[in-house]
Amino acid sequence: MTRKVSKAIFPVAGLGTRFLPATKSIPKEIMTLVDRPLIQYAIDEARAAGIEEFIFVTSRGKGALEDYFDHAHELEANLTRAGKKDLLAVLQATNMDSGAIAYVRQHKALGLGHAVWCASRLIGDEPFAVLLPDDVIAAEKPCLQQMVEAYAETGGNMVAAMEVPAEKASSYGVLDIREDMGALVSVKGMVEKPKASEAPSNLAVIGRYILSSGVLRNLEAKQQGAGGEIQLTDAIAKEIATSDNVYGYRFRGQRFDCGSKAGFLQATVAFGLARPELRDEFQQFLEEMTTMRKAAE
Ligand code: G1P
Repeated sequence: MTRKVSKAIFPVAGLGTRFLPATKSIPKEIMTLVDRPLIQYAIDEARAAGIEEFIFVTSRGKGALEDYFDHAHELEANLTRAGKKDLLAVLQATNMDSGAIAYVRQHKALGLGHAVWCASRLIGDEPFAVLLPDDVIAAEKPCLQQMVEAYAETGGNMVAAMEVPAEKASSYGVLDIREDMGALVSVKGMVEKPKASEAPSNLAVIGRYILSSGVLRNLEAKQQGAGGEIQLTDAIAKEIATSDNVYGYRFRGQRFDCGSKAGFLQATVAFGLARPELRDEFQQFLEEMTTMRKAAE
């Protein structure tokens, strides 16, 4: 029997410089995809997977993110008085239970591995999930839920994985595959941001993880890796040597890199088209735009 995964870490300390000037005054995780902040998609996915404790690793300037999780009592009262039940339901669906959220600070930008390590004391000896809110995944069954189900069979450590074009491998953690079992692969090595010519495969790590506390112990060493940063990938790779139980999981779904402008725009189109109340008008607009652009070429 594997232990239930009930805690999740959300590393949200990044500066978001790719979205300047917007990120001068708003954290990038508050940036809006259709009508909800990026972080809400990650929270909803975690909830669907059975997560009960939400740990945010924040940094300076992330006040708006912390405020986002307060209950908006006045607004709720106004909407109740006005009989706006639908909006009230939308708002209340974002309410988090008291005591379910914790914030820890990452004082220096030393890398993703360091950010995750900052939450060590709140995790203790349990398995835990990590969700990178920049990676937004559209899926019939939410990605982390798929992984929790697969993890119930495997235990150990699991990372979400996706095939990427060879020339893009250097943007990701990349898996060295031992055995390919279809959705699940067992992993014999992991490399963070390898040169395209040195990538062990084209199966890349996407920002969803289920990890054992052994990974946190590995992070204690604070060893620098690719780009001079403390890398989560390296700490997971160390588990292969000690316990040999690292898996990649090819999730079913479409991933958007909302850490990049192009990815954010693509996600906006995909999530906009997926909304019944927006679909027809939006699709018509996109078709007109395409026709106009073609005519102008
Ligand atoms: C991080 C991880 C990398 C992973 C990627 C997925 O990199 O370090 O292993 O492939 O997220 O989005 P980042 O995009 O933060 O540079």
